[in-house]
Amino acid sequence: MTRGKSIYRLFPPPFEEVALHGLYLSLNLHRLSSAGRPFVYANFLASLDGRIALEDASGQTFLPKSLTTPDDFRLFLELEAQADCLITHGGYLRSLQEKRLGNILQIGLEERSRDLAAWRRNQGLKPQPDIVVASASLDFPMPASIREHGQRCLIATGRHADPARVRHWENEGYDILFTGDGAMAQGDALVDELDALGYRSIYLIAGPHMLDTMVRNGRLSRLFQTITHQLLGGEGFRTLVPGPELGPHGHFKMLSLYYDPTSPLDTGQWFAQFENLSGAA
Ligand SMILES: NC(=O)c1ccc[n+]([C@@H]2O[C@H](COP(=O)([O-])OP(=O)(O)OC[C@H]3O[C@@H](n4cnc5c(N)ncnc54)[C@H](OP(=O)(O)O)[C@@H]3O)[C@@H](O)[C@H]2O)c1
Repeated sequence: MTRGKSIYRLFPPPFEEVALHGLYLSLNLHRLSSAGRPFVYANFLASLDGRIALEDASGQTFLPKSLTTPDDFRLFLELEAQADCLITHGGYLRSLQEKRLGNILQIGLEERSRDLAAWRRNQGLKPQPDIVVASASLDFPMPASIREHGQRCLIATGRHADPARVRHWENEGYDILFTGDGAMAQGDALVDELDALGYRSIYLIAGPHMLDTMVRNGRLSRLFQTITHQLLGGEGFRTLVPGPELGPHGHFKMLSLYYDPTSPLDTGQWFAQFENLSGAA
């Protein structure tokens, strides 16, 4: 497991052995918003050939097991612990209900992440981050756990959303954020709404479409990327950004790079952290 594990800092100098546990927690991302701009960050796992997911024979996408490790998941949770708001999406809630994905909507409920609940308390953060569900279809199940843990849940969609679905969620007591001119929520309008609601550290745990709109609109502050040392191949795949060429909005500066030589599958992986030059808070 991760506790006690060491990895190597390659950048910035000096080269040094460091503890994996606490590596991202020490960044204090919840204190980095500035000039009225919430700090928005995302984290992706990719292979050397830039794949974040593969397609099975039916066209369904999945996260290959060889991309994931307990160490990467620990860092994912450390990032989550620093958020006052998580942005997920309708697709995740459907997968959660079908038990195709595990629950990442609450933090610190399991033994291995209990320390993160205590860390949030010490930092004056609410026990659980609030949740935004981005959805164009508005057709997803709402997990009971969100209300059970006292998390406010907002739904972000576009102005062309189905009025019957909008009424359904309003009748259930959820606030809808209309943050796009079409069917989809847009990054800039969504971050402006969340800013007005007082959120300072916003963690994108959604997929590539949400990352695309955040970066394209210049609202992503930081990108964390775990790069596992394997070529996945696969003719059907997903990568980080599905939309058209990005230009300067897609330019990043590396802030740190750590090397774990032992996992996954003894290949090794890099944990990289990048600042978006258009979206820095
Ligand atoms: N390797 C990694 O780090 C990583 C990270 C994330 C995802 N993945 C994988 O990549 C594959 C594709 O990811 P995905 O399905 O999460 O991604 P996606 O295609 O970006 O998003 C899927 C759903 O999110 C909602 N959505 C996304 N952006 C939206 C927006 N701007 N406005 C409104 N709704 C929006 C839509 O929900 P509705 O259908 O409800 O309208 C959409 O169907 C999956 O296999 C996933 O497991 C890998």
